[in-house]
Amino acid sequence: MSDHTIQSVSKESRVFEPPTDFAKKARVPTREAYDNLYRQSMEQPEEFWGEQARNLHWHKPFTKVLTWDAPHVKWFEDGKTNLAYNALDVHANGARRDKPALIWEGEPGDQRTFTYHELWRETCRFSNVLLSLGVSPGDRVAIYMGMVPEAAIAMLACARIGAVHTVIFGGFAAEAVRDRVNDAEAKLVITQDGAYRRGQLVVLKEHVDRALEHCPTVKSTIVLRRTHNPIDFKEGRDHEWSELMRNAKAEHEAPALDSEHPLYILYTSGTTGKPKGVLHTTGGYMVGTWLTTRDVFDIQDSDIYWCTADVGWVTGHSYIVYGPLLNGATALMYEGAPNHPDPSRFWQIIEKHKVTIFYTAPTAIRAFVRWGDDHVEKHDLSSLRLLGSVGEPINPEAWMWYRRVVGKDKCPIVDTWWQTETGAMMITPQPGAISTKPGSCTLPFYGVSPKIFREDGTEAGPNEGGLLVIDRPWPSMFRTVWRNEDRYLSYFEKFPGKYFTGDGARRDEDGYFWVIGRVDDVVNVAGHRLGTAEIESALVSHAAVAEAAVVARPDELTGSALVAFVTLKGNRSPSPELKIQLLDHVAQEIGKFARPAAIRFADALPKTRSGKIMRRLLKDLASGNTSQGDTTTLEDISVLAKIGTEE
Ligand code: WT7
Repeated sequence: MSDHTIQSVSKESRVFEPPTDFAKKARVPTREAYDNLYRQSMEQPEEFWGEQARNLHWHKPFTKVLTWDAPHVKWFEDGKTNLAYNALDVHANGARRDKPALIWEGEPGDQRTFTYHELWRETCRFSNVLLSLGVSPGDRVAIYMGMVPEAAIAMLACARIGAVHTVIFGGFAAEAVRDRVNDAEAKLVITQDGAYRRGQLVVLKEHVDRALEHCPTVKSTIVLRRTHNPIDFKEGRDHEWSELMRNAKAEHEAPALDSEHPLYILYTSGTTGKPKGVLHTTGGYMVGTWLTTRDVFDIQDSDIYWCTADVGWVTGHSYIVYGPLLNGATALMYEGAPNHPDPSRFWQIIEKHKVTIFYTAPTAIRAFVRWGDDHVEKHDLSSLRLLGSVGEPINPEAWMWYRRVVGKDKCPIVDTWWQTETGAMMITPQPGAISTKPGSCTLPFYGVSPKIFREDGTEAGPNEGGLLVIDRPWPSMFRTVWRNEDRYLSYFEKFPGKYFTGDGARRDEDGYFWVIGRVDDVVNVAGHRLGTAEIESALVSHAAVAEAAVVARPDELTGSALVAFVTLKGNRSPSPELKIQLLDHVAQEIGKFARPAAIRFADALPKTRSGKIMRRLLKDLASGNTSQGDTTTLEDISVLAKIGTEE
């Protein structure tokens, strides 16, 4: 086979139709309905998006829908709107005034609920606070907080006054905060004294103090009291959240902002190690997150929707805060860890709040599998009607477990493929319309035109692995990389004028997409280019395996050899016999050529705080090197030491 193709070896053939009673009440109730919408979005994109966008409020209506001067795009260019107005005012001053917008559950068990009217008032008040500290439209504001409602209020207030927020995940260390604040040249940092995480105190304000020793652009901070640990307070620079709010008016009129007004910068990792500041703007992002939330989650007024992501990641931006509020939905937000005080916490929350829609990540799902079904089964999950997955390819076994143990075989699963750069879901089922296959993110959302390309830019055939490219602009796409236009352009260089996602994928005979993973996670063994995710998936389909990560190390004989790092389910322990079984299993699932040269058992795998396995570190370990790489995003550094002494 050619060196330039990616061989895709998944053999999944199960198909699940949308449950009839679900489909009957769904916003998109049939495959035909989806096909019609999709066809219209492809044939008449401007009419389609213009019509969709007019469902939202525009302070000044747009006359122009799309300006595409590849790779630069403008959506609804001459229109003026306000995202926070659409997310709050329209509901707070209408029928949803007293409907819960945000239900918040603290890690220690405290609870707070904000109705639309309350969330609107708080956001207006905080908008006035920002203005009183001299924040102007276009100024950058860094938000370094835990999962508290005030994080959402801060984001919404920035959006409301036209300030550009950059949310920095609360798990980052002081150095990472410093680099992001400096890159964005933030004027203000909003933080809290501390945050709770797995029963421990995370001293956020202390990190900010250290970071700000080297951040000349920051003039002030606002500090929310959450954990009441002692903190240093710098007179003139630091302000108490509660004090500022007490003195602020609750009336604020949302200004009309240009559709292309910058909304936020969100830092995401690239291949080079230096984070990229992905910039999103107002109108297109608003329309994209609104419509995907409505149709992919099939949001109804009675739903209690819970996305378990952190607001520090794009999923938290688009699908905890903006998308759900634009739809007038009730969103749940949980502060803490899934296993605090014990591994049943998520299921307890679902039972307590009668959650109907649950959106989480494969890494979490595999952790639940490892922790055991008992934790799930002792709770009443009958309120659930829809499950979602995002963040990485979900292996069919985890998908099946999710469907059976959490969804009791009655909830459709939406496996949603998208990226920080895309702003909103791109390839995903509509649960009432699209039959699903475990491990496939299925079909493109309206207006999204994904293609599988060979290296030479020709289109791959059915089931032929290749590079996932989007060849048309979509409303919620990023507009640039902050202060690094060259990095923006580099996404459109490999296939001129088309967006290269960095992912490998294939499209099957039914047109379904199967994302294999980042192409930098593609390995070449004895002439076969394979997505490590597929070998991992084969390993995980063995009854003893909880999680697996496969990397390549240089090998004199074959060029490179595969090393599999494997964690086992609670009741299994490592043994030479099990190693042989696993190798046979891979040979059987994929083929002998895909058998790892070595299997290393571990207690846990090194992961980024967003749950992605850090293959770079494992690669170093597999090659016998001590890791030189950047470990600032590693969730638990001790994991690495443990694997290092294994074998
Ligand atoms: C990368 C984007 C999307 C928000 C969270 C991650 C992988 C994401 C899926 C999925 C297969 C997926 C891709 C993508 N990915 N969702 N459903 N199936 N892979 O955002 O940090 O920007 O990562 O995550 O590799 O390129 P991100």
